[in-house]
Amino acid sequence: MRSKASINGHSLHPMLVSFPIAFFTGTLVFDLLGWATGKTFYTEIAPVLTIAGLITALGAAIPGVIDLMHTVPPKSSAKQRGIKHGLANVGVLLLFGIALWYRMHCDTPNTAIILLLEVAGAGLLLIAGWMGGTLVSRNQIGIDHRFANAGKWMEFHFTSENGRVEITGHQVLKTDQMMLVHVDGKRIVVAKTEHGFAAFDDHCPHRGGSLAGGTMICGTVQCPWHGSQFDVESGKVKAGPAKAGIPVYALQQVNDRLYLQLP
Ligand code: FES
Repeated sequence: MRSKASINGHSLHPMLVSFPIAFFTGTLVFDLLGWATGKTFYTEIAPVLTIAGLITALGAAIPGVIDLMHTVPPKSSAKQRGIKHGLANVGVLLLFGIALWYRMHCDTPNTAIILLLEVAGAGLLLIAGWMGGTLVSRNQIGIDHRFANAGKWMEFHFTSENGRVEITGHQVLKTDQMMLVHVDGKRIVVAKTEHGFAAFDDHCPHRGGSLAGGTMICGTVQCPWHGSQFDVESGKVKAGPAKAGIPVYALQQVNDRLYLQLP
């Protein structure tokens, strides 16, 4: 699923998170060096790194929240993972923020307390990073697919009148290509098959993967997350792990115009 916060298809969030990761890790390393060597130089640098980490983390959070709200498929396992990833990162900010506040407001700060908070923050940072990695590598959030004949990612928003809506943009689809349309807030895939156009739910009934981000061949769409396959015309499951089929929608083609009817 192509990121909504990206430059030319390159997702911003994974680029920006490297800064707070480096700054917070640096904070802990400098405080450990200060504790081990007794040199104040290291403990003077550490809070500066924390401040840099907090600022860059807030900057990295903006595209992350945009992706969580608008790129991650709704009602999916990735949505839950994304929320946990965000909460873990808030925890990281709080732990490093409290350590910084304690250091600044205490005349003789206890090094053990500071190190304890920072070690906990670094541990949480690892957990958040692990979940972030899963969101990209397994859930393919922010991936701009370039597999054979995928075409460019297309996404449109429409409002229906009594459940009927004219679809535009479908003219550029080639056989086996798909686009995602939002009709009255519902995510629907419009696909071109050998027999014409087909429309079906974007939501994979297994764990909520976006079928628009999958692949389609010979009228069968494959979910990008765990490989379930569905017939795009009947909606029936052709291969698991999904057990239920997907809803399909009626399309009417009048010359070059395409109309979709919601139930
Ligand atoms: S979410 Fe698991 S196969 Fe689609």
